[in-house]
Amino acid sequence: MDPIKFNPQTRVFTLRTRSTMYQMQIERYDTLVHLYYGANLGDAEIVHRIVNLDRGFSGNPYEAEDDRRFSLDVLPQEYTAEGNGDYRIQGIEIRHPDGSNCLQLKYRSHKILPGKYSLPGLPALFARDSSDASTLEILLADSVSGVEVKLLYGVFPQCDVITRAVEVINNGSSRIALKKAMSLELDIPKRSLDMIHFYGRHNMERQTERRPVCHGIQTIESKRGMSSHHHNPAVILCDRTATEDYGECCGVVFVYSGNFQCQVELDQAEQTRLTMGIHHSNFSFRLNPGESFIAPEAVLTWSGKGLEQISHHFHDAFRKHLIRSSYVNRHRPVLVNNWEATYFQFDEKKLYGIAKAAKDIGIELFVLDDGWFGKRDDDISGLGDWYVNEKKIHGGLPALVQRIHDLGMKFGIWIEPEMISEDSDLYRAHPDWCLKVPGRNPMTSRGQLNLDVSRKEVRDYVMGQIFQVLDACQVEYVKWDVNRAVSNVYSLSLPDDRQGEVLHRHMLGVYDMMEQLVSRYPDLLLETCAGGGGRFDAGMLYYSPQIWCSDNTDAIDRLEVQYGTSFLYPVSTMGAHVSVCPNHQTGRTTSMDTRAAVAMSGTFGYELDLEHMADEDKKLAAAQIKEFKRIEPLIQSGDYYRITAPGDDHNAVVWSFVAKDKRKALVLGVTLRKYANPPITLIHLRGLEADAQYKETGSGHVYTGAVLMYAGIPLPVPETDYQAVRFEFVMLSCLDTLML
Ligand code: GLA
Repeated sequence: MDPIKFNPQTRVFTLRTRSTMYQMQIERYDTLVHLYYGANLGDAEIVHRIVNLDRGFSGNPYEAEDDRRFSLDVLPQEYTAEGNGDYRIQGIEIRHPDGSNCLQLKYRSHKILPGKYSLPGLPALFARDSSDASTLEILLADSVSGVEVKLLYGVFPQCDVITRAVEVINNGSSRIALKKAMSLELDIPKRSLDMIHFYGRHNMERQTERRPVCHGIQTIESKRGMSSHHHNPAVILCDRTATEDYGECCGVVFVYSGNFQCQVELDQAEQTRLTMGIHHSNFSFRLNPGESFIAPEAVLTWSGKGLEQISHHFHDAFRKHLIRSSYVNRHRPVLVNNWEATYFQFDEKKLYGIAKAAKDIGIELFVLDDGWFGKRDDDISGLGDWYVNEKKIHGGLPALVQRIHDLGMKFGIWIEPEMISEDSDLYRAHPDWCLKVPGRNPMTSRGQLNLDVSRKEVRDYVMGQIFQVLDACQVEYVKWDVNRAVSNVYSLSLPDDRQGEVLHRHMLGVYDMMEQLVSRYPDLLLETCAGGGGRFDAGMLYYSPQIWCSDNTDAIDRLEVQYGTSFLYPVSTMGAHVSVCPNHQTGRTTSMDTRAAVAMSGTFGYELDLEHMADEDKKLAAAQIKEFKRIEPLIQSGDYYRITAPGDDHNAVVWSFVAKDKRKALVLGVTLRKYANPPITLIHLRGLEADAQYKETGSGHVYTGAVLMYAGIPLPVPETDYQAVRFEFVMLSCLDTLML
């Protein structure tokens, strides 16, 4: 099967993955029309679905002459421009020097290439070898202005994903202003779709909302200079009847960590158009003749078997082709982080005490969080001063780290390189290094300002300071945080008419800093973070194999946060810790067992004062760490199933991991309320081999996969509120079955 084929007779492009197919056609007047995205239909060319009608008030291109049935306003297309009589949401808008905004994009040429395209300076999926992926480049051009648009398609047959990106090239002789450049446009000739998206807030990220796609435009977006706690840059469109394992669904994840806009429009002909890309608010890129702009990548997948398959496609694609870190399939050291244990109040004795207690129960990595540098005794000072505060850490950081290394533990450290406090030596020396609109007082947030990392000298200075610390201490892990949104968007390094470039250049600056870090320390374990999960996106996964999921460490709230996150991102990327109870964010008390069941469904760690932990809890923690190490390979590389959902009528949130070879399954979860005279809750497993025999390791009971999936098993009746659920199943071999 050729992943990419072009039929010169019909002028149809076919992109094919294991179970999906994507088609487009160069139609009349060299218009690139979208034909189909759905199940793999072999050699069929889906040209018959385009129905041309004469629709009032939908005009026709000049070259269509008296053919009133050819209108861009209703035709499904691959990439559309403003100013052409297509009044729906569009891919691109430019402003010519004469003030006009028209672009007539016509097919000009194409190339089919082995391997996967890359996007300089931007995160993107990659092929490990050229057989993993193929690339299609289609060049569209506007003959009047010379503006060209290169549509890039990366086809990953094994993971069932197709990536899209766009390069806008000014091949004309005049300067243009690029006002909008979406990365992906997808026309779906269907109505009655639902849209699932992931909204939230600090401490409660990626909540799941499902709503019908209605006429007009529905938007999710971030204008915060980061992908944000408030909307994740991803969407799933699905049949109204779709469930976890039934129905057609299509998912899009944006591989970008800054401003984004995702829009879905149901048009007059009951067709749906989806766009995803950089938000066009406060965006304007000047392109001189010969210059080009790259719109970041979006990843697309389709499932004919419900939502779980969308998640499996994304999880597999991200684990294999996005996360570069060698930690992706390796044991992640179980860590202890001192943030909730000490906040800013610590000295080297306290830190060493926690590390020592951690070592005793089997923890492998000590992470020193915020407060170790500059004059950082609270959150309004010190950012930018990346040298150790010896008033807190007497004797210096290298000496403390040496003692921690001597315990046989790894050492990790927190940084926030994109920020500056007004009360810092860096600000006193370089007050012009932050984003600030001249003549106006800046908006502060958590008492800090954004460094202007669109400037190379700023990036290089900050990273140079941080590298000195990392080199001196031989740091093995870094937590890279960002604790405010971007505002005061103005860079003193750019002329007035380029200020619309600042936000994107800022993001490119962040990526450049992260690239400097990971290429200098290839074995470093990097965890990114943004006031918890405010930048949990595919762009970050290119640099860091794990992201702190939320500042909310309450196991019960985390059920919802981790549930929403799981639709898009692998469980192995979700930073999750056991913290103290009553929980610092909610005041809720849950058992150690429950907290561990939730934190194990992520990158496992602890975030509490181990010096003050009861001996009984220490014993439990030591056992949990052993347990996690045993099950980690399944959690890291298995297929994830959402068995029940928060808010449904199961009174429990339950999920499972099934090994790729289906020989093992682990069910974890939490029952919610304990009721008097309780109802019985049955759960139905998924993804097992129907005919195989599975032994439940706790009770020793043997069931067929079919029984577990279709008859279900009852959850234990809860003895308290919030009780952990845990079942493990192993497939019996033929020999075991004979001996039964
Ligand atoms: C953010 C992070 C926390 C912690 C604090 C430190 O809120 O999400 O985990 O690192 O910053 O200031």
